[in-house]
Amino acid sequence: MKRLNWGMIGGGEGSQIGPAHRLGAQADGNFVLAAGALDHDAGKGRAYAQSLGVDADRAYGDWREMLAGESARDDRVDLVTVATPNSTHFEITKAFLEGGFNVLCEKPMTMSVEEGEEIVKVAAKAGKICAVNYCYSAYPMVREMREIVHTGQVGKVRLIVTNFSHGHHGDASDADNPRVRWRYDPAIAGVSGQFADCGIHALHMASFIAGDHVRKLSADFASTIDSRTLEDDAMVNFRLEGGTVGRLWTSSVAIGRQHGFDIQVFGETGGMRWASEQPNQVYYTPVGGRTQIMEKGEGGLSDEASRLSRVAIAHPEGFPLAVANIYVDLAASIRGEVRDGLPTAEDGLRSMAAVHQAVASAKADGEWVDARPPMFR
Ligand code: NAI
Repeated sequence: MKRLNWGMIGGGEGSQIGPAHRLGAQADGNFVLAAGALDHDAGKGRAYAQSLGVDADRAYGDWREMLAGESARDDRVDLVTVATPNSTHFEITKAFLEGGFNVLCEKPMTMSVEEGEEIVKVAAKAGKICAVNYCYSAYPMVREMREIVHTGQVGKVRLIVTNFSHGHHGDASDADNPRVRWRYDPAIAGVSGQFADCGIHALHMASFIAGDHVRKLSADFASTIDSRTLEDDAMVNFRLEGGTVGRLWTSSVAIGRQHGFDIQVFGETGGMRWASEQPNQVYYTPVGGRTQIMEKGEGGLSDEASRLSRVAIAHPEGFPLAVANIYVDLAASIRGEVRDGLPTAEDGLRSMAAVHQAVASAKADGEWVDARPPMFR
C-alpha cells in the first residue's frame, strides 16, 4: 500500500514529544515524513527537518509557509501533526483544517471552550479528520479494559479512580526555572496548570474505558508552591452521564512518583486496574474470585488488544508504540476505513469544557458544575 505523506509542526530537536510522534508515525510504514516546520527558530527547524530526510523545499521555516507550500502541491501531506506549545494549537489546527488537511493535534486541543467548539465545527465543515493525541487510550491493555467493560465482564461500572501524579515540579528551589515556571503562569498556560496538562489524560481515559461522558464535576485546586498562580495539585470528583462515580487526583508535586498515571475501574461483578508504568498488564478480579494478571500478547485477549500489539508476549512495546497505534488508526481513517476509538476533536472539546468548569468549581469552593461543553448540553 502506498505510504501517506506526513507533515509535522513543532516537535523540533530536543522537544519532549517530537520523537514519540516520529517513531509512532513511521513505525508501521504508513507514513513518511515529507514536510515540516519543526521549530520556533526557522533556521533550526529547516536544518533539523532536512537532517530527518525532508527535502529542502519542504523543510519550512514556519507553519504559514508550510500551509502555503503544501497547499500548492499535488503530493501535499495527507496528515499534519501539531506538536507545538498549547497556545498555538487552535490557530494552526484551524488553518490546516480549513486548508483541507487532516490534523492530529496535541492536547490540550485549544485554550478555550469557544475555540474547541470552533475546531469541531471547522473539521465537520471541511470533512477532514481532526484527532487529538490522547495516546494512552491506545495502549493494547487499555483497549482490553474497554472491551471488558463493553462486553459486560465487570457489570455496570460503579466507580472509577484515576491518578496522574508525578513529582517533577515538586522542588521549590527549581520553581523559577523558565522550563517549569511557564506552566503555572496564566499568561502562557491559560486557566489551569496541572489539570489541563495531565488531568485531562486521566479524565479522557475514564470516559474512554467506561464508554460514557463526564456530566458534572467538583474540583479542589491547590498551588502548593507559593510563587505559583495556577494549580500544581488538583482533586476532581466527577460523575459520568450514566451515573458512574469518578475520583481523579493529579499533581506535579508528588515527589517520588515518576509518571504516575493509573486507573482503577470497579463494576458490579468485578474490578480491574492498569498503570502506565506497567502498561503490559491488567489486574482483573471477578467478584468473589482471585485476581488474574492479564498480559499483553497472550491468547484470549480481545481482537482490539491483539490488533494493536506487535511484538510477542512479555516484550515491552511502550509509549512510542501507543502513539503509533493512534497513527495506525489515522492511516486507516484517511484511507476510508472507520476506526472506533480514535480520539477526536469532540474529545478535545469535552476536555476543554472540563478544564474551564473545574477552574470555576475550584473558585467556588468545590461547587458541583455541569462539565459538558455548551454545544453538547
Ligand atoms: P517542548 O517545549 O519540549 O517542544 C516544543 C517544540 O515546538 C520545540 O521544538 C519548539 O521549537 C517548537 N515550536 C514552538 N513554537 C513553534 C511554532 N510556532 N512553530 C513551529 N514549532 C514551534 O514541548 P513538548 O513538551 O514537546 O509539548 C508540545 C505539545 O505536546 C504540548 O501541547 C504538550 O501538551 C503536548 N504533549 C503531549 C504529551 C502526550 O502524552 N500526548 C506528552 C508531552 C507533551
